[in-house]
Order: sequence, then C-alpha cells, then structure tokens
Amino acid sequence: MTSTIKKIFGVRGVEDIFPPEAVLWQQVEATARRIFNLYGYGEIRTPIIEPYELFARGVGEGSAVVEKQMYTFPDRDNVMLALRPEGTAPVVRAYIESGTYATEALARYYYVGPMFRYERPQKGRQRQFHQIGVELFGTESPAADAEVITMAGHLFSALGIAGVTLEINSIGCPTCRPPFEKKLIAFLREKASTLCADCQRRLERNPLRVFDCKEASCQRTLAEAPEISAAWCEGCRDHFGRVRTALDQSKTSYTVNSRIVRGLDYYQRTAFEFTTDHLGAQNAVAAGGRYDGLVASLGGPDVPGVGFAIGLERLMLLCSQEAERVASDTLYVAMLSDSAVATMIPVISVLRKDGVRVEWDYEPKSLKSQMRRADKIGAHSVIIVGDDEVAKGEVVVRNMKTKEQHNVPLAALPRHFISVV
Ligand code: HAM
Repeated sequence: MTSTIKKIFGVRGVEDIFPPEAVLWQQVEATARRIFNLYGYGEIRTPIIEPYELFARGVGEGSAVVEKQMYTFPDRDNVMLALRPEGTAPVVRAYIESGTYATEALARYYYVGPMFRYERPQKGRQRQFHQIGVELFGTESPAADAEVITMAGHLFSALGIAGVTLEINSIGCPTCRPPFEKKLIAFLREKASTLCADCQRRLERNPLRVFDCKEASCQRTLAEAPEISAAWCEGCRDHFGRVRTALDQSKTSYTVNSRIVRGLDYYQRTAFEFTTDHLGAQNAVAAGGRYDGLVASLGGPDVPGVGFAIGLERLMLLCSQEAERVASDTLYVAMLSDSAVATMIPVISVLRKDGVRVEWDYEPKSLKSQMRRADKIGAHSVIIVGDDEVAKGEVVVRNMKTKEQHNVPLAALPRHFISVV
C-alpha cells in the first residue's frame, strides 16, 4: 500500500543514526569517558543554544565559522541565538558563569554532543555533526598542552585506530603575532595576483588563514612566505620547546608543521591537528590548541586554557571495522502458537529482569520466518516453542553457531540462559 501523502525528509547535511551503528557510537563514547576519567576529567553538559554574541566574541566575528556557517535566529523575545558551532566557547561561558575559577585552581571538563555548521555536506562533513572535546583551565604549563595531546593519542590507540598523524605548531601570542601578521600581509599584498579571490579578501583581515587554502597557486606562493617560527617571542619559543620536550617524554610522536593556523580566532601558542589519509578531503579527525586569552575576553578572569575536539563522525568512519554487533548478545524466542506465546511471556520477562537480551515477534508465525529473523539479527540461540512443547513442559533450544539443538525443561529455562549469558 503506497500512501499519497507527501513524505517529510530530514534537513540536508543532518543524519540519523540507527542501531546497530549507534552501538558503535556508545562504545566509542564509553571508551572516551573511561580514558578522560583516567586523566581527571569530568563531564560537562552545556546547552545547544547560546547567545549569538558568545561565538561572535569567542570564536571571532571574522572567522568563517561565525561569518558564514552559524545557524542563528531570534527567539520570541527577539534575543539573537545560535546553535553552537563548537564546544569551547560554551564551556568557557559556563566556567565563568558558575564562578568555578574562584574555587578550583584547575578545572578539567569533557563533553560529547552535536554541533552545527552550515557547510557544504560531503563525506565526513555534516551540518549537524558530533564532537567529543576536552577543556583544561588554569595552567599555562607546556606539560598541560602535552598531556592533552597525549590523551587524544591514548584514545585513538584504545579504539584501535592506526594511521593518525599528529602535527603541531605555535601560532604565537599577542606580543609576537601582530608584527608577524604585518609582515605576512606585506608579503601577500605583493603576491596578491597569484592568490585566489578568497585569499585576496582574507589577506588583510585574517592573513594567517591563507595558509589553510587548498588552491595550488596559493600553496605555491605560500612556500616562500615568512614563517611564524622566525617571529616567535622568547616566551613562545620557550613554551613550544617545552611542549615538544614533554611530548617526547611521553613518547607521543609528532611532526612540526608551521602551516597549521586553525580556523577559530581564540588560539594562542600551541595549535595541533590529528589527520589521517583515510578520510579524503576532510582529513582532520581532531584539532585543538591553547586559548589563553579567551576566558578574559568573555568577561572572566585571566585564566589560561587548552583543549581539543574530535569529530565523532570522522572517528566512526575510521573505526567502523571494529564494530561489535550487539545482536550477538540476543536470544530469540520463536513461538508457533498462541499457547506458546502465553507460556513464554512470563519466562521472557524473567530472562530480561536477569539481564538476558531477548527478542520475539509478538505473535505466532511460521518457524521458517522466525528462523530467518533470528539469523538476520545474529541471535546466539533460539528457543522454539509450539503446542507440543507446551504440552510436554519443555522447549527446544538451538545454538545458532553450532546448529545443535536440545530440549530444556520449561522450569529450568530462565536459569539455563542466565548461566549461559
Ligand atoms: P574544529 O577544528 O573547528 O575545532 O573542530 C574539531 C573537529 O570537529 C574537526 O577536526 C573535525 O573532526 C570535526 N568537525 C568540524 N566541523 C565538522 C563538520 N562540519 N562535519 C563533521 N565534523 C566536523 C573546534 O571545534 C575547537 N572547539 C576544538 C577545541 C577544543 N580547541 C580547544 N578546545
């Protein structure tokens, strides 16, 4: 029967996650929670809607995320809101608003949840995507940068993900970056004719972003551009050197890439990205850095911070082979008659209360169709019950792997499976 009523489709760039794929998400999230907990991080849950101004000021009005990618709307009181495009600014807002800085010298948070950016959807890039992120407040120590980076690496290895490359850089601080930007602008102006239209526009306002451009002609020009490392102040040079030493001490391998600049305006000093060759154009699985001025710029005290976020969809693409199918935990009950249903409903209830995952079809059906279903969901065993079994007070239990069958007395049933599972 086909309906003539028009279907409603989901929003472009926004995906549904069904079982059993959602099980993989749960497993990945559980692993992240376990690892972050080892480093002293606790979960923070912030709202999905925030004042527009939080991101305009926090992430930066000139950033592509705020300028072109945010979902913004006035609410019924005409307050301008935004769906969060990232998690750092909201966590900073919550940290300031709660006054946590006054009671905790160090604060460590992690978060898991959806973020929203109006981008052109493609593999590994959605308009609603999910991040797992961490934020550490209260220390400028290079050991903190290194530990945050190492923790991300720890999570990748715990998830069995190989082939992820870590690249690090220091993008300087308010002392050394402005003079460097001046020098870079002068260089880019001279070469403007070789730059794409986007970069020509970007070069005055946000010259560092030009490094992110993928156009071949821009990349050729940039090969000769001045490097930030030559402009670092003494403090930044020393900090970066000590981040590298701490990474070496914790046996975290990395390469220095002076082209890493990051697209969000709040970064200072350490910036890093984890990339992979397995994701095509959207090759950044995780990224982060230090944001020492952000808490103060959002009205809080001068507290430094460092963190990162992992793109969960991209992470899932990398670990989907590891998916364990939840269905292998399932016991399927095939019922061939009404009396079988009546007999088994209380037994199923006891099994579930004792932690056995049970599925059935809610009404008697042919054995063939029920076996097909049990096979499809990957059940480990099937209980088969018809009128004969009810009359004899027993059931047939079939092991789906070995294909062996044997009879089990009804009275022994919940015990039988509870001890098996
Ligand atoms: P970000 O580089 O904008 O940083 O995003 C972090 C990660 O989120 C990216 O590396 C990518 O894996 C994923 N991601 C970003 N946009 C999309 C998208 N449209 N679709 C799918 N995945 C995406 C931040 O958001 C910072 N808040 C990270 C941070 C935390 N820095 C310090 N603390």
